[in-house]
Amino acid sequence: FRVPVIDNEPMRAYAAGSSDRAGLEAAVKKMISQAPFEIPCIVDGKPVKTGDIQSQPMPHDHANNLCTYHAATPEIVKNAIESSLRAKSQWEEMPWADRAAIFLKAADLIAGKYRFEIMAATMLGQGKNAWQAEIDAAAELVDFFRFSVKYVEELYAQQPPRNSAGTWNRTEFRPLEGFVLAVTPFNFTAIGGNLVGAPVIVGNVCVWKPSPMATYSNFLIHKILLEAGLPPSVIQFVPGNPPEIVQQCIDHPKFAGLHFTGSTQVFRSLWKKIANNLDVYKGYPRVVGETGGKNFHLYHPSADIQSGVVQAIRSAFEYSGQKCSALSRVYVPRSMWENGFRDQLKSQVDSITIGPCTAFNHFTGPVIGRPAFDKISGIITKAKEAGGEVLAGGTWDDSKGFFIQPTVIVTKDPKSVTMTEEIFGPVMTVYVYEDAEYEQTCELIDTTTDYALTGAIFGVDRAALQRAAHLLRNSAGNFYINDKCTGAVVGQQPFGGARASGTNDKSGSISIFYRFISARSIKENF
Ligand code: ALA
Repeated sequence: FRVPVIDNEPMRAYAAGSSDRAGLEAAVKKMISQAPFEIPCIVDGKPVKTGDIQSQPMPHDHANNLCTYHAATPEIVKNAIESSLRAKSQWEEMPWADRAAIFLKAADLIAGKYRFEIMAATMLGQGKNAWQAEIDAAAELVDFFRFSVKYVEELYAQQPPRNSAGTWNRTEFRPLEGFVLAVTPFNFTAIGGNLVGAPVIVGNVCVWKPSPMATYSNFLIHKILLEAGLPPSVIQFVPGNPPEIVQQCIDHPKFAGLHFTGSTQVFRSLWKKIANNLDVYKGYPRVVGETGGKNFHLYHPSADIQSGVVQAIRSAFEYSGQKCSALSRVYVPRSMWENGFRDQLKSQVDSITIGPCTAFNHFTGPVIGRPAFDKISGIITKAKEAGGEVLAGGTWDDSKGFFIQPTVIVTKDPKSVTMTEEIFGPVMTVYVYEDAEYEQTCELIDTTTDYALTGAIFGVDRAALQRAAHLLRNSAGNFYINDKCTGAVVGQQPFGGARASGTNDKSGSISIFYRFISARSIKENF
């Protein structure tokens, strides 16, 4: 078995008047007319209704739910774990070519038959506009599944170890002994797919705890995988109350791994709980996570102002700053700031329109929900009180949806709250540095937070860029030179953060699969 050449799924433009635009609009309209969907847990491939009904509201129209879902009870979680363990041996013994075919077929179903439906679920449930939904729920999700096949094929095809006379050495890339728990976020439908897909494609079984705010799109991924031929018990879909479900899974003696994307605080607490449970397990569970960020752009005085402003706006405000990679702190030299950066930034951010993700004429939409809305608006208020200048935005409206106007704060204090705390919303803070203090500014960036997810530097002075790349070598797992700090593409820029931003196991690359295998080396004499 050899995989065909894998390429990135081409991105569609959804131009006015195009058939793609019409198809997507029709899918959105249909979904609104049918909502709210009632989503069960899926255990052993069968729907289970628990009667503990919770809801996923639409962030742009919070009086209406996209779906209601049956939250998993402890008994359901127990059944899900046991059912996954029963499926384990069949799944891991399935020939690799058959496992691969399931993921390639699922990718094709998402790219074709279900493209608009899963995009609509991401738009309505997670507040993305059409283009952001295309990047995520169409292109990236498809890429994750297709490239997983490529990388696992490469892993299995590795050069075997050397043999000496009369021996045959070989290595089996076995899945982990037990089940993997996937705890997945709201902000990328694709990440949900990959957090279950990566362990499962190498032969693991998985209990999937989706984000309550992404239940419906994640349910569709599960449905598509089943349609593509995934044996029903390999992934158990258990929406519900995060802390209880997660605790129950990590307290199980057969817990073998965690694949997580979410906050640093939650990841750290889970890691500690897992460590405290070591006597419960036979082995050492794999703990793999991507967590918070405080991502930066640094402009060298040689950078181009016009494109620098555009890149800052796109990376800070697309999807209302809710990408884990989103820009939040910006370091601009005084010469650039006074010669146009400030004015262009202000006028362009002032002209951004926000609105429902179902419309095709807004730059961005709402933030995900009430807690996020309250937190972000509260942070902006405090930043103002602490003397930050609001250059643009700084207003909000939650009467219908959770809308926060993209906001630029200019601070004189590089250690102020908005320069240090993760906000996860449409807030960019600018610190203007003196041109002569470029290297000190690199040190400032490096030492301001413990996060190290993404960062970017801009300029044409090659020596200065190289110097910054060196000084900032530990400050970002994904580092961009003359490009914005969002938008990693599967297979092109493996994604993951260092330091407090995660275990840096790089989704979208071969590295991630090593975390979910437990290789057996075999020596045979004859
Ligand atoms: N992979 C996403 C990005 O880089 C998070 O923006």
